[in-house]
Amino acid sequence: MPHEQYDDCWLRYERVADDARRDAYRRRCAHAYVAEKSPECSAVRDEFRRAIPGLLGEDVHLWQHPPTTAEGFLAVGTPEDMAMIADSVSVDAVEDLADGGYILRSVEWEGQDCLVVTAPTDRGLVYGTFHLLRLMATGEPIDDLDVREEPAAPNRLLNQWDTPFHRSVERGYGGESIFDWERLPDLRDRYEDYARLLASVGINGIVLNNVNTTKPDRPSASDAFEGWQLLERRRLEDLTGLASVFRRYGIRTYLSVNFAAPMLLGDLDTADPLDDDVRAWWREKADEVYDLIPDFGGFLVKADSEGQPGPYDYDRDHVDGANAIAQALEPHGGRVWWRAFVYGSHEDRAVQAYDTFEPLDGDFADNVTVQIKNGPIDFQPREPVSTLFGAMPETDLGLELQITGEYTGQGVHATYHLPMWKEVFDFDTRADGEGTPVSSFFRNPGEGIVGVGSVGEDHSWTGHYLMQSNLYAFGCAAWDPECDPEAVTREWAAQTFGADDEVVETVVEVLRDSWEACIDYETGGLGLMHMMHNGEEYLENHYYPSPGEWPGYHGASEDGIGVDRTSTGSGYAAQYRDPVAERFESPETCPEKYLLFFHHLPWDYELADGTTVVQRLYDNCFDGVEEVRRLRDEWADLEGRIDERRFRHVAERFDEHVAQAERWRDVLTETFRDYSGIPDEQGRVPES
Ligand code: GCU
Repeated sequence: MPHEQYDDCWLRYERVADDARRDAYRRRCAHAYVAEKSPECSAVRDEFRRAIPGLLGEDVHLWQHPPTTAEGFLAVGTPEDMAMIADSVSVDAVEDLADGGYILRSVEWEGQDCLVVTAPTDRGLVYGTFHLLRLMATGEPIDDLDVREEPAAPNRLLNQWDTPFHRSVERGYGGESIFDWERLPDLRDRYEDYARLLASVGINGIVLNNVNTTKPDRPSASDAFEGWQLLERRRLEDLTGLASVFRRYGIRTYLSVNFAAPMLLGDLDTADPLDDDVRAWWREKADEVYDLIPDFGGFLVKADSEGQPGPYDYDRDHVDGANAIAQALEPHGGRVWWRAFVYGSHEDRAVQAYDTFEPLDGDFADNVTVQIKNGPIDFQPREPVSTLFGAMPETDLGLELQITGEYTGQGVHATYHLPMWKEVFDFDTRADGEGTPVSSFFRNPGEGIVGVGSVGEDHSWTGHYLMQSNLYAFGCAAWDPECDPEAVTREWAAQTFGADDEVVETVVEVLRDSWEACIDYETGGLGLMHMMHNGEEYLENHYYPSPGEWPGYHGASEDGIGVDRTSTGSGYAAQYRDPVAERFESPETCPEKYLLFFHHLPWDYELADGTTVVQRLYDNCFDGVEEVRRLRDEWADLEGRIDERRFRHVAERFDEHVAQAERWRDVLTETFRDYSGIPDEQGRVPES
């Protein structure tokens, strides 16, 4: 059922148009027998109650025992739950699946056409159910199913940068926070719908609050609620209901915590990780948390970064800091996710994370995961992959991606991130010889893939209906980093906009081409980055162009542009393993898409096709704008084929997108013109 106040996103469950197909679905799914034993199974039943009436136009018949009906039925449970399931599949094959894995199989049972959804764990039953409903929502046949799925990465976490009690989400462009912290433990329907959206794409953990658990530079810091206060007993008590909502969908709850919590919350005068009282404080706090939320996932920590306290305050290192908290969580099976996002002490921030963390490989406790952003700077439209991947074989690693579009148009521009993530996953680190792509990591029990979330109170959840696709795609890519981006996008579009092939094709095309367009107008496309406006205020904007603010990021001068990160510069290239390092070290072999990230080159340096650097930058900026115009027109052609609300909203966003892309193009091309003194061959760039 559609909600008055907010969109159903890809869980719309609209009536299947094709009569024959609907009959085939009805034959196997109008009656369902779901094991009755756990919160996850009750969530499965609820999902059928929502989905089947929508898809088939009739209520689902839920049975408490194998149905006695002339028709077939759907059975959902583990092999131990039902003899019918144990007889229909190989029990060993089910037990071999990883947590979250599942099997869907069309079977004949006592002469009836049935369907089995089975898994070794109840979480897998939830995922199997969503998979089946996705097939029906996209009109796929289910008469001959034999699907076996399991996640590549054991941990697939959402990092919600929610600022509790401020009703805001850092870098969230979907409106206010959906979490009404003041009213907890009261729950809103929206929490459950959020859990459904996350579970439907396989996400199995959520960190509820912002990594910035204190903002020392925020003017109201002294009297405003700070994230670290969530560890207070009464706040934890308020969280238990919310944790249960997520638990029904197989999602564990986590919190971001402040390294100085023993001082801020306890009455200690130090947070030194080697101090016995500090360690005891963390142990007691962990005991308290697990007493209230037994399946709690663990703590996420941003330490010694952008003003957050950390072990450096006590002359300790990241291992000391992470392990002190990890020892407290260890008896409960909890985990510390310790972020590697650190910079400040080096002239080039790109090199710092590796310099800091690589020497610590092997020293972290078994229940610590080092969480690393995809690139060395900060979620730029395109970055080369972080050098830490493949460099810490003795450490559990997490890959942090940004779902929200902090630097890619902030919920106004339609910028789809899946192609960017695919580039990250496909990058061959050569860590273990040829064929060690980033997608081959994150497979150990303590490893995983993390997405910085984007949802808010807006009707669209993400501030832009098309940008729901980034949340969907994140889940799919975390589940299977080797997924086919085109297939994922098509699946999302078909569920979100219905079965009109022309709409689906257009949406797929718009999304597919949007990222390269953004790179072109926001960077010029040769590896430049971070030319965004920062501003004075606490939350800098990162939306408008302002290349003059941070000249260090683009390195423009009269003699050329780019940053020397080779052995004559900051040395970032050499942090990769050979032959990757060698390839990036020379401008001759460095891929053009990263060229100016690694090299400072003359404006008239000739690229492979004979174009000069400055001319290519001009051309890309202009091409990027043309491309956004083309995408806007593609969308405009869909008028009348999708509902007015979503059509108009996206069309209006596209108008602003074009205007902003033009602004970026003008500011960047004029900057390049000013520094280089070289006019555009096509005379498009005025002299200022
Ligand atoms: C970026 C972002 C901040 C965030 C930080 C982080 O700098 O702009 O809002 O706090 O990343 O990842 O910790």
